Amino acid sequence: MAAPSGPPDPGRRTLITWLWRLPVLAALAGAGFGAREVWRVHFNKPAPADPPRFEPREATLVAPVASFAAPWDAVEFVLAGWPALAVRLPAAVPGALVVEGVRDGAATDEAFAVAGFSRICTHQGCLVDLNRDTEAIAFAFNHRGDTPQLACACHYSVFDATLAGRVVSGPAIEPLPRIRLRVERSPDTGAHVIVADGAETSG
Ligand code: FES
Repeated sequence: MAAPSGPPDPGRRTLITWLWRLPVLAALAGAGFGAREVWRVHFNKPAPADPPRFEPREATLVAPVASFAAPWDAVEFVLAGWPALAVRLPAAVPGALVVEGVRDGAATDEAFAVAGFSRICTHQGCLVDLNRDTEAIAFAFNHRGDTPQLACACHYSVFDATLAGRVVSGPAIEPLPRIRLRVERSPDTGAHVIVADGAETSG
């Protein structure tokens, strides 16, 4: 059989060249994406917005103010179908409710702060719990701190309520969305209660 003759086809040569390059480009793109994610996870966990932007939600009773008699007292509730949590903090943070002038059984001679957070982990959506055992957090979640933390047991992300829900450990990057809280008088009992009426939007 006669050998092919004539000049090589430039289009075919270009195609072959790119067939060799594609795997290399794909590998470089993958490495670049991986490096970007590692950088984001370890060095670029954004601080929560100050002030937060809340979207209104149907007002939902959280609990009587008296349920927050001491720092780290917490109550779980559901706001518009989303699990959430309100927790009394040692000091106010952006987006938190400052309760003052209320004396319904809580030790409220002084003002104190209660913050609301979504319990939906911003990593992959598992439920976040308030963990008060700092030793357990250090051992199981690889984060040592002085205060209780909002922790996700799925992949060990830790959100610091004293930093308004910022991620301090684990694969999650975005902070926990905050919940807007307010105080009102219960029409039934006359007691002061905490009500949730808004949720933080991103951006
Ligand atoms: S879902 Fe919470 S850390 Fe992954």
